[in-house]
Amino acid sequence: MSTPHNQGKENDFAKTVLMPGDPLRAKFIAENYLENVRLVNSVRNMLAYTGTYKGKEVTVMGSGMGMPSIGIYSYELFKFYGVEQIIRIGSCGAYQPNLKLFDILICAGTSTDSNYASQYELNGTYSAIASFDLLEKAVASAKARNANYYVGNILSSDLFYRADSDIYKKWQAMGILGVEMESYALYCNAAYLNKKALTILTVSDSLVNKTETTAKEREQSFTQMMEIALDLI
Ligand code: HPA
Repeated sequence: MSTPHNQGKENDFAKTVLMPGDPLRAKFIAENYLENVRLVNSVRNMLAYTGTYKGKEVTVMGSGMGMPSIGIYSYELFKFYGVEQIIRIGSCGAYQPNLKLFDILICAGTSTDSNYASQYELNGTYSAIASFDLLEKAVASAKARNANYYVGNILSSDLFYRADSDIYKKWQAMGILGVEMESYALYCNAAYLNKKALTILTVSDSLVNKTETTAKEREQSFTQMMEIALDLI
């Protein structure tokens, strides 16, 4: 079985997939944390590796940036490759003044400015939420690891560069913790296909305090988020 965007065979993917945005991040995780690793996809360089972590099988695969990209890859994994749960690990911009760089967000829900859910022809606004099972486990892991974490609602946006740079204040007033560009589509696909999804994010910049992290700092802070994700396998 292969799809237009994935050359993997049906049994190449584990039931649990960790999805960073950057395919080279997937390679880094595979090389540094997994055993018995094999490359299972390289179509468009969207690298996917399957291996074991503490004896359990897991796949790590890049999602690319934005909802169209993660929408394609996560749909194919759920629908055609027998994947049961996808845990996105990514970065976000903070919308709340109390959030500091490197804080961890466990995304209970995601709001959006995208039209992704219009395909379902619902007579209203779909609220995309995480799997409570994964959410509960992630919170327990974050607590045990003494992480600085928050649980709540985020914005999945179609825009990184935008005409009105103050628009975040309206989302901020609604309690939105931060912004990224993928989770709404991931949570929709999981709901539609009766699978599980969760997003864990590290704050990489702040729209409020106008601070940002260096590439080196991002790499290091990423470790804690990834270890929480690996606890969920
Ligand atoms: N906007 C959108 N996506 C992001 C950001 C941001 O500021 N930071 C990390 N991912």
